[in-house]
Amino acid sequence: MVKICGIGAGYVGGPTMAVVALKCPSIEVAVVDISHSRISAWNSKNLPIYEPGLEEVVKQCRGKNLFFSTDVEKHVYEADIIFVSVNTPTKARGLGAGKAADLTYWESAARMIADVSQSNKIVVEKSTVPVRTAEAIGRILAHNSKKGIKYQILSNPEFLSEGTAIQDLLDPDRVLIGGNDGPEGHEAIQKLKDIYANWVPEDRIITTNLWSAELSKLADNAFLAQRISSINAMSALCEATSAEVSQVSHALSKNTKIGPKFLNASVGFGGSCFQKDILNLVYICESNGLVEVANYWKEVIKVNDYQKSRFVNRVVTSMFNTVSGKKIAVLGFAFKKDTSDTRKTPAIDVCKGLLGDGACLSIYDPQVSEEQIQKDLSMNNVEWDYPIHLQPMSSTTVKQVNVVSDAYEATKDAHGICILTEWDEFKAIDYQRVFDNMQKPAFVFDGRNILNVDKLRETGFIVYSIGRPL
Ligand code: NAD
Ligand code: UGA
Repeated sequence: MVKICGIGAGYVGGPTMAVVALKCPSIEVAVVDISHSRISAWNSKNLPIYEPGLEEVVKQCRGKNLFFSTDVEKHVYEADIIFVSVNTPTKARGLGAGKAADLTYWESAARMIADVSQSNKIVVEKSTVPVRTAEAIGRILAHNSKKGIKYQILSNPEFLSEGTAIQDLLDPDRVLIGGNDGPEGHEAIQKLKDIYANWVPEDRIITTNLWSAELSKLADNAFLAQRISSINAMSALCEATSAEVSQVSHALSKNTKIGPKFLNASVGFGGSCFQKDILNLVYICESNGLVEVANYWKEVIKVNDYQKSRFVNRVVTSMFNTVSGKKIAVLGFAFKKDTSDTRKTPAIDVCKGLLGDGACLSIYDPQVSEEQIQKDLSMNNVEWDYPIHLQPMSSTTVKQVNVVSDAYEATKDAHGICILTEWDEFKAIDYQRVFDNMQKPAFVFDGRNILNVDKLRETGFIVYSIGRPL
C-alpha cells in the first residue's frame, strides 16, 4: 500500500488530502500538524474549517484510509510521498518584511523530513512558495539527509478556492505538476500523475519544469486579483459617470477573449492569498531588479486598498459626514460566502475605518464566531511599504463592536447597513421588516452588489451599491 503523509492540516492540506483518500481507497493518507487543537478538531464532529461537502468526504474516509495525527515524525518516516501544505505567510520582520514569503514553516518541515527519513521520498510542494524554493528545499534535504536517501521534489500548487474547495478538488480544471528533468524526476512526476489519474482526466494534468510550476501559481493569483482590481477601478469611474458596473462587466464578459469570471465589482478582494502572493511576486521582481514589473503588480493591491477606503468614505459622507455614535449593521464578515475564513477579509479594514469615525458596529455573519471577529478587529495590520489608508485601531475601540446572531437583531435601530459578504441568506431578508425597525433615513451600502436596488429604494432605503450612482 502506498503511504502518503500530508504535512499541514489547514484549508489546503485538510480538504486536499481528504479528497485523495476518497478517490484512492488503496492509498493510506495521514494528515499531520503541529497544532493539537486543529488535529483534535479534524478527529471530532466539528471540523476546524467550514467548507461545503467537506464533512461528508471526511466521514466517508476517516478511520479507513484517512487519519489525522500530531505524530508528524512517525507518518513522515512511513510515507512514500509527502505533501507539504504548511502556511507561507508574508514575512513580518527582517529582510523583505511586509512582502517576501516567510518560509520558516516550510524550512522546519524540510529539516524534520531530512531528520526522520530512512527511505527515498517524493516531497510535494503544495503550499504557494516563491519561484526557486524547490532549489532551497533540495539543499536542506540533501545537506541533512543520511547517506543514500534520495529525494525528488515536485511542485504541485493548489488552485482550490475556499467555499468551493471540495468541488474544485473533485473536478479541477487542471492539475499542475512541475519536476526535475531526467529519469528520476520523470519517474516522480509519473507517480504523482498516477495518483491524480484516479479521478482527473489525463488531458487536465499539465507537467512542466519546477520553476514554471512554482511561478505559475503566483502568476495565477496575480492575474485573478488583477481582474478584480480592474473591474473595481472601473466601478469608481462608473459612479462618476452614471455608467453601471454590472452592465459594463456583462458587456466585457461576452467578449470570448475576456470571459465571464472574476468580473464582479466588490468592496475589495480578501482571503489569505491574493495580497500575500502578489507581495511575494513584487519582492521577487524587485530582487531581480525588475522595478517596473514590481510596480505594475503593486498597483493591483493599491487599487484594492483604494476600493476599501472609498467604501468607508462613501458610508461616512452619505450619512451626513459622520457616523459617530451611529449604529451600523455589518452583514457578513468572512472574505467571501460559504467560508468561515476571515483572513484579510475586506470587512476588517472597512470595520476599522468605520470605527475610526466613531461608529457602533453590530456585526452578523452566519459562520464567523464572535471571538474571531473581536480578534480580527483588535489586531494590527501587517504593514508593507505602501502606506495603507486604513489605520489599525487601538484595543479600546473593540468595545464599539457587538456581534449578534441574526440579521434582524443586527439591523434593529441601525442608521445604516453595510453588506460586506455575499451570503445568499442576505438576499432573502425581509427588507420591509428591516426598514420598519431602523432609524430614518435608513441607508444600505451594498459592498457586494447582491441586493435589488430598485426594490430597496421603493421600500424607502437610501441605497449605495458599488459602481452605480447614488
Ligand atoms: P493554514 O494556515 O490553514 O494551514 C497550515 C497548517 O500548517 C497549520 O495548521 C499549521 O499548524 C501547519 N504547520 C505549519 N508548520 C508545520 C510543520 N512544520 N509541521 C506540521 N504542520 C505545520 O494554511 P492554508 O490556507 O491551508 O495554506 C497553506 C498553503 O497553501 C499556503 O502556502 C497558501 O498560500 C496555499 N494555498 C492556500 C489556499 C487557500 O484557499 N487557503 C489555496 C491554494 C493555496
Ligand atoms: C483564490 C483563487 O481563486 C484560487 O484559484 C487560489 O487557489 C486561492 O486564491 C489561493 O491560492 O488561496 P480564494 O481566495 O479562496 O481563491 O477565493 P476567490 O473566489 O478567488 O475570492 C477571493 C476574493 O476575491 C474574495 O474576497 C472574493 O469576494 C473576491 N472576488 C472574487 C471579487 O471581489 N470579485 C470577483 O469577481 C471574484
